[in-house]
Amino acid sequence: MSTAETDAQIINPDMPDVPPHAPSKINLKDYKKPSFDVETIDLDIKLFETYAQIDSVLKMVRQTTGDLVLFGEDLELLMVKMNGSQLGTEDYQQQAGKLTISDAPNEVTLEIQVRICPQTNTALEGFYMAGSGDDTMFVTQCEPEGFRKITFYPDRPDVLAIFTTRLEADKRYPTLLANGNLVEAGEVTDEPNRHYAIWHDPTNKPSYLFACVVADLDVLTDSYKTSEGRNVLLEIYAKSADIDKCDVGMQALKDAMKWDEVNYGRAYDLDRYMIVAVSQFNMGAMENKGLNIFNTACVLSSPETTTDARSFSVKAIIAHEYFHNWTGNRITCRDWFQLCLKEGFTVYRDQSFSADQQSSAVQRIDDVATLRAHQFSEDAGPLAHPVRPESFVEINNFYTTTVYEKGAEIVRMIANTLGQEDFRKGTDEYFRRYDGQAVTVEDFLSALSITDNKIEDFIDWYRQPGTPVVSGHQNYDSATQTLTITLSQQTRHVSGFDAPKPLPIPVATALFDKDSGNIIAERMLLLDQATQTFACEDVASEPVVSLLRDFSAPVQLNYDYQDEDLAFLLTHETNGFNRWQVTQMLVNRILLQGQGSKSSPDVYLQALAQTLPRLAADDAMLAARLLDIPSAQELASAINKNYDPELIKAQREALYQQVAEALKDQWAGLYEQLPMQSYEDSADARGTRALRNVVLDMALTANVNGAVEWAEQQYNNASCMTERFGALKAMVNHQVTNADEYLADFYERFQENDLVIDLWFSVQASADTVSTDVIQSLLEHQDFDWNTPNRVRSVISAFSSQPTVLWTQEGLEIYTGVIKKLDDANPVLASRLLQTLARWNTLVEPRRQMAHNKLLDLQKHAASKHVIESLESVLKA
Ligand code: PHE
Ligand code: ZN
Repeated sequence: MSTAETDAQIINPDMPDVPPHAPSKINLKDYKKPSFDVETIDLDIKLFETYAQIDSVLKMVRQTTGDLVLFGEDLELLMVKMNGSQLGTEDYQQQAGKLTISDAPNEVTLEIQVRICPQTNTALEGFYMAGSGDDTMFVTQCEPEGFRKITFYPDRPDVLAIFTTRLEADKRYPTLLANGNLVEAGEVTDEPNRHYAIWHDPTNKPSYLFACVVADLDVLTDSYKTSEGRNVLLEIYAKSADIDKCDVGMQALKDAMKWDEVNYGRAYDLDRYMIVAVSQFNMGAMENKGLNIFNTACVLSSPETTTDARSFSVKAIIAHEYFHNWTGNRITCRDWFQLCLKEGFTVYRDQSFSADQQSSAVQRIDDVATLRAHQFSEDAGPLAHPVRPESFVEINNFYTTTVYEKGAEIVRMIANTLGQEDFRKGTDEYFRRYDGQAVTVEDFLSALSITDNKIEDFIDWYRQPGTPVVSGHQNYDSATQTLTITLSQQTRHVSGFDAPKPLPIPVATALFDKDSGNIIAERMLLLDQATQTFACEDVASEPVVSLLRDFSAPVQLNYDYQDEDLAFLLTHETNGFNRWQVTQMLVNRILLQGQGSKSSPDVYLQALAQTLPRLAADDAMLAARLLDIPSAQELASAINKNYDPELIKAQREALYQQVAEALKDQWAGLYEQLPMQSYEDSADARGTRALRNVVLDMALTANVNGAVEWAEQQYNNASCMTERFGALKAMVNHQVTNADEYLADFYERFQENDLVIDLWFSVQASADTVSTDVIQSLLEHQDFDWNTPNRVRSVISAFSSQPTVLWTQEGLEIYTGVIKKLDDANPVLASRLLQTLARWNTLVEPRRQMAHNKLLDLQKHAASKHVIESLESVLKA
């Protein structure tokens, strides 16, 4: 029993065992079809100064026996009529967020009137106001269960309906948008200050894809002609000051539309596609049918204000939301347990799209680095869950990197196993079979199995939590000229789940001839048992084996390489991803020396010194990645006990220093080789800028003569934000004498631009030298804003990247204080921030005990079911 319950019982001994407010669990195995379907819903949304009134008409038809159930939260119910007659409170039950009508006839028309208050909705779910003062707008966020905060409705993804939406508001808000096509717009009779618009969406959709916007926005317009000949109007809506930052997103949208036609045969299906930028948003963006709503950070981009990395992710997110039109909207999820069905597949699709916009090796490196830093650590800790969870209290807590990124890895393994042609046949079949339906992961696998059912075993990847560890070694027999590779797999047993079974693990492998450095064989080894031996014949001499090429499965690899083998592969691998992967293995070995590894940095440093000059000229972006040292969080994710943040930090810094000094003679030459040029958004130009920033930081680390001046000049003469911010960041991290002046200058220059000011906050909060005093003063800064998640994250998430500061008494005091503060106002955000603390149990004492106490203290105050559920999981460690 948790402490909170114990306390409550001491205060009130009559309290039942399970308090009445205890959040209840929902289980996949309890899934039941809804008893009623909705054919059409007509919504009339009238926005007034202090509230909104929502009138809805639902045409419902019985599907199976059972009650008619509507969900509703934070609604003031004014009226409900069934088939023309008004219902009294005796005609329905209303409790725990549900309105239930028993014995309803088979055909029902419900008329419902409710009142809500978007002006005070800080949760950013349902219908809410963004902005403040004279600068406000109103938007919806319905996924996953926000529609029930707008009106009573069977708010579940397997209820699909045709929506017609009338919006009415003061003319102060000229922009009135909803899903689908604009049918009519005009003035409200007898109310000269008010106007309305009526939208009709011809596609059947679940309520989580509903959206509307009431605002005063400018619009960037374009058009696209689909492969089916449809002329689509494309619109991006933003505040007038931001409308000049929408071109990148618009181009990405057109590229994504084309890409989906070419690669999946999917064309867009409406006459209009709208994107709206909003500054207050909990997530990145939302794929509402025909009316995407985007966090400004994920749609606005301009060279002067946006870094290359950000801009690249803007394009990826635009593509992601667009791809949802087929994988998510036209084919949707039967229930929220199937979230990975739309998210895993769509992430796989956006990663493939991005891989076509830059070097595919770099794309793979970035995706794998994210997976390792975040998903592996989630899978290693108390929040571990299957890609398709089996139960939840609050579905918002399951928008995780496991569902998204590991979900994408499964689709990737399936695609690679089938091969391009059969995968395409399978996805064609999926779209053909399930268009317009709400389906499950099993349905997905069954459609993909049309050419070959070997992929049906992949279902276990969806069911089993934990990251498999693949270990192996090789044996060469010169007499028979046979190489045998023995691989075995092991997954930790996560409590609450069945004992793990072996999964199908594709291990892409190449054999390299030691003398020539050439590939002599390529094989896809399918490891699907606990241990397996694979034999390769006709191998004239013992080769170097390169495994898990392109990261062919989301596993940890433990192969008995010699350091020299890894150095060999760093030079000879043709697979760019694997060149990076072997440097990461070398780095890990050096860093984990305390834990029994005896690798010396020399082999690694020599290989780097040899590789870098050539690579810098050939592929600057890849060269920049080869200098990566895994983040403190990624290193921590591999440590299960006595994790000492100070030690890890010291080891990382020492190695970084060694690299910087070992290559000290190269930095000046490299920096000159990468001159600043006028801005261009090409893969080459981005690579040059990325490498230049890395080289600058290395030069500052090694105290190269003149490096401080390089930084100052780069800042002052920057042609774009990547250059300016790269220089600023280096100056802040290295505490160069004038760093504060440059910070002040940066603030001056960009104080009108919230997204750049987010960078200003985060560069300070994530600095290697940050202290809790700095964090505290940033939280008290006049521009800090608790109601804007981007701003909260720019300080709080940034600071959690410094574990030596986070895991202290004061650090945790601040961090848990923020969660407490947001718990009531914005529980989705509070709970997400809390999930960062999941690995407290691995800490070395006394940090561990201290963290435990702070979490227990937080539990006494926890209010939302989001935070309660996350805390319970985190504490069960
Ligand atoms: N479905 C959105 C996406 O991945 C994410 C999201 C979830 C946004 C919940 C808002 C709320 O594209
Ligand atoms: Zn998505």
